[in-house]
Amino acid sequence: MDTTDRIEQLDNVVLSPDKNSVVIIDQTLLPNRLEYLTLSKAEDLYDAIVMLRVRGAPAIGIFAGFASYVLGRQIKTQDYEEFSGKFFKNTAYLNSARPTAVNLEWALRRMDGVVRENPHKTVPEILQLLERESLAIRKEDIAMCTAISENGLKVLKDGDSILTHCNTGPLATSRYGTAIGPVLLGHERGLNFKVFADETRPLLQGARLTAFELYKAGVDVTLICDNMASLVMKNGWVQACLVGCDRVAANGDTANKIGTSGVAILARHYNIPFYVLGPTSTIDLECPTGEDIEIELRAPEEIKEKFYTQPKALPEVKCYNPAFDVTDHSLITAIITEKGICYPPYSDSLRLLFD
Ligand code: MRU
Repeated sequence: MDTTDRIEQLDNVVLSPDKNSVVIIDQTLLPNRLEYLTLSKAEDLYDAIVMLRVRGAPAIGIFAGFASYVLGRQIKTQDYEEFSGKFFKNTAYLNSARPTAVNLEWALRRMDGVVRENPHKTVPEILQLLERESLAIRKEDIAMCTAISENGLKVLKDGDSILTHCNTGPLATSRYGTAIGPVLLGHERGLNFKVFADETRPLLQGARLTAFELYKAGVDVTLICDNMASLVMKNGWVQACLVGCDRVAANGDTANKIGTSGVAILARHYNIPFYVLGPTSTIDLECPTGEDIEIELRAPEEIKEKFYTQPKALPEVKCYNPAFDVTDHSLITAIITEKGICYPPYSDSLRLLFD
């Protein structure tokens, strides 16, 4: 298979037909190569998350559901206590792969719940329930992304130009995506949106993945370096900013890819609406504010060496490489979920989603 296939129609994260592995598109190879990985060993599953072979908050959640099920099938015992002990150890291991996107923990908590709530069932029966739960997580994500995309279309007009950061399309989810979902859904319906995609330093999810997805879908996309967003906004070329989220705190503070908060500050300066789009699985009401969100720190090599034929800074030079930042809730025009559009004050509107 090559990269000319319509990416928005490909399955990004699935369970293999024999149920022994998780099959993913290796996102680190895009846009140059479209290759699938078939993973079944605990270390390979963990590494796939750490290395961003699978990435994007919802996709990580879907992956974690399948990964824990696949590992559960490898536990050789019929004893509930032994099975549950080993199962919880696996999920704790997977959960430690990345700290910021709540969807990882959310999906694994669902899988743990299945085991915890069924102590009187046999191990094969529990495995059957685990398979069902993991498939449900994916199926629900498809429905959520479609509903988020519908709701996102309510704040856009035909012909709008949108600025986005990082990647929130089908590769980061199941179908359509979150922040890019309204654009893809609108495009299918004949609406004409233009998109400015921030390249998203240092791992270039915007250049490698968003520009790729939109181009393949036939959407008018223009790639810009992150530091060009201000000029593009100043020129009057952007009518709305749409971004995704990795964890939304109870007060609306939102962790998303590093650089997102800068986009929000610029949008406020230029009086452009700034929307966060994500499933309710990314809202963490147990997390009071952005201060409580753990931000993942990654290796200096990503800044100094990755994507360059030669290192572009001296080995001795220190690097600070946070993978996410937090956008203050005061900068967010609305948070768009599958259940509806939340406006400030978010401490009230977000809570209502769960009533
Ligand atoms: O480090 P990544 O590539 O996993 O970061 C992804 C993002 O920040 C996305 O914007 C977010 O997960 C939402 S994906 C629908």
